[in-house]
Amino acid sequence: MALQNINPTSTAAWKALGEHFAEMQTASMQDMFAADTNRAEKFHIKWNDFLIDYSKNIINPKTLELLQDLAKQVDLSGAIASYFGGDAINRTEGRAVLHTALRAPESANVLVDGANVLPEVYAVKNKIKAFTEAIISGAQTGYTGKPFTDVVNVGIGGSDLGPNMVVEALKFYKTPLNVRFISNVDGDHVTESLKGLDPETTLFVIASKTFTTQETLTNAETARDWFLNTASQADVAKHFVAVSTNIQKVTEFGIDPNNVFPMWDWVGGRFSLWSAVGLSIALAVGFDNFDGMLKGAHDMDEHFRTAAFEDNIPVVLALLSVWYNNFFGAESEALIPYTQYLQKLAPYLQQGIMESNGKSVGRDGKPVTYQTGTIIWGEPGTNSQHAFFQLIHQGTKLIPTDFIGFIEPLYGNKDHHDKLMSNFFAQTEALLNGKAEAVVRAEFEKAGVTGEKADYLTPFKIFTGNKPTNTLLIKKLTPETLGSLVALYEHKIFVQGVIWNIFSYDQWGVELGKQLANSILGEINSGDVKQHDSSTTFLLKAFLGK
Ligand code: F6P
Repeated sequence: MALQNINPTSTAAWKALGEHFAEMQTASMQDMFAADTNRAEKFHIKWNDFLIDYSKNIINPKTLELLQDLAKQVDLSGAIASYFGGDAINRTEGRAVLHTALRAPESANVLVDGANVLPEVYAVKNKIKAFTEAIISGAQTGYTGKPFTDVVNVGIGGSDLGPNMVVEALKFYKTPLNVRFISNVDGDHVTESLKGLDPETTLFVIASKTFTTQETLTNAETARDWFLNTASQADVAKHFVAVSTNIQKVTEFGIDPNNVFPMWDWVGGRFSLWSAVGLSIALAVGFDNFDGMLKGAHDMDEHFRTAAFEDNIPVVLALLSVWYNNFFGAESEALIPYTQYLQKLAPYLQQGIMESNGKSVGRDGKPVTYQTGTIIWGEPGTNSQHAFFQLIHQGTKLIPTDFIGFIEPLYGNKDHHDKLMSNFFAQTEALLNGKAEAVVRAEFEKAGVTGEKADYLTPFKIFTGNKPTNTLLIKKLTPETLGSLVALYEHKIFVQGVIWNIFSYDQWGVELGKQLANSILGEINSGDVKQHDSSTTFLLKAFLGK
């Protein structure tokens, strides 16, 4: 079944939420915590190794009830069944959205056009396992018989950000192989990235779902030229493998068809790290860890598919985000992991969230009259505290923030970890409680600052607090918990797309720039600048020195 076409603003729940917002927009979380010392007990979810505390939000039980009504009135349950059931919910591209099938057990039965896709999924998984084990163990070598030491993933967008994020996140679990990533078509970046590599021991993974992406094909050609400086054409088969749906284009590029790891058009690029796009992950951390990540994601899939809305982590986080986005008018959300390993989580989720839900046409084909996709940004704590937290604490904008932290550090450095995590807890407490004028004045008095000086400085030192946060406290960063965490945000994206009545799985918005870049490239190559707006013409002429 297709997703229904329900304008969220036409629902009774939306209207009720609007009225409820009038009561809540000035509500004080401090007051709500003072009135109910069991608030955290009420507003949290414990699931596997996750504790999600969402009590530090500007909500009360009625808010949650109304948000869940909204989910019901836009038929979220039906949409979840369509999503997992393989319906063509990516309607504008006529495709199912089944990254969840990539992490389902072999015994599952997921139908696309009447055929179970699991046998194909597992055939590719087995191929990944055999290949990665042979490379890591040294059983499969380069063209001079030396074992591989380095892997270069060439891809962009979903064919880069996911594997790149995970390879960084699971560095602790790494194999002897060093994996690096080339994505930007910037030749300086490619040159820098190839520095220090030995062609005899370097394996290239060319990852492109379509195998038509300009950046990836250009970088792949440059990598192949670099390789051919020392090796021969016949050696390419041993050093270049591809991940793609487009076997014909891969073969035209010169990659041996046996070296192709297939994927399917029902896997969206930005959700593809679970597919063969994860080949570089399996090389970096070993197949078992890659599989552990898939298992963790599947556990989250089952939680999302079966838990009641009030106990459902992706549903609750998505609804809270809608509350701020559509009622409080928040424009962005921050994501702050308290581990350096997750330094690439925000850039990764920027594609997932903003490419998916950055849409302004509803499922009825008409412009929406309400806000959709949130802007997502973030950096690991504590670095971000010393960079942009000032604005979150005392700026004029409301920025709901997710804090992600782990109970156990990986290397067991207790002193560091306790300091790191004390910052983690302190920030959400500070954002909640702020600092009242009386406290500021008392501090001045204690420090001997009085009179006009104290009066003048007081307003600058007051923090209003009442800034919403979610705390995701996870036992330990493992392949399994990482898989669950990423799947959590994937399903949050889905829920929000359903509520906003948009199509989350296409990305027409990135096409126009690609088309124009191709025609401008022709003009740059020929030196013949065609008719543009005066700014673009002026700039092109300056670039060409005309
Ligand atoms: O940026 C647009 C996009 O189509 C993404 O959705 C995709 O992840 C990326 O380009 C790369 O595409 P491909 O894997 O086909 O090279």
